[in-house]
Amino acid sequence: MKFKIAIDGPAGAGKSTVARILAERLGYLHIDTGALYRALTLLVLRRGIEPADESAVAELFGETEIDMVLEPGGAKVLLNGEDVTEAIRAPEVSETVSIVAQHPKVREHLLHLQRQLAAGGGVVMDGRDIGTVVLPDAELKIFLTASPEERARRRMKELRSQGHKVTYKDILLSIRARDNLDAERAVAPLRAATDAIPLDTTGKDVDTVVEEILGYLSTVRRCDGCSTD
Ligand code: DC
Repeated sequence: MKFKIAIDGPAGAGKSTVARILAERLGYLHIDTGALYRALTLLVLRRGIEPADESAVAELFGETEIDMVLEPGGAKVLLNGEDVTEAIRAPEVSETVSIVAQHPKVREHLLHLQRQLAAGGGVVMDGRDIGTVVLPDAELKIFLTASPEERARRRMKELRSQGHKVTYKDILLSIRARDNLDAERAVAPLRAATDAIPLDTTGKDVDTVVEEILGYLSTVRRCDGCSTD
């Protein structure tokens, strides 16, 4: 059986990297749901729309097609047919995306797309509300965390390697601000599902984390078809 694996947690906890490697190891598809919120945010910025204006953002839905081309080893994000895989990682998008992702209409709009992408199973999906809202029936749910300082260091390395000029202080502030927005929004706030396994990645390398998750998956597999009665 091909499972659905949900990986949630705050920005910079290592979700996307862990999810990508896990998917490769399992021959599953990796779905980075943050990329969908980022694609919409990119359009909001390009159009000069006020990100906090929910109605104005929602008006874009009719003329916006966001899609993900899922391929083993990577996914392309398309915004009205344009490949925006790189553009959605820009710092301006990172600074604005939490505001756009707060709107209930945005979340509802992207919920269907996320469920469609995961429908066939054999997916590792990462985000903030995958275990709680998008795939409450996922066979394995992991909630990844790491200290804000460690997450800021990781994000700084990633952005600098992409040529962005950023400071540690600014990134730490932006991570804290995003944590607050993600945790406090009314719809689908960032929180662990009651049946999620918490995993703190502070001081652990990616391979160690992936191995731990594979260990949890093997217990689920052994119990595939287990009856509770
Ligand atoms: O994981 P990321 O940094 O690419 O996520 C970008 C933003 O999208 C982040 O502010 C949280 C939001 N998000 C969300 O609200 N729900 C998801 N399932 C995924 C991301």
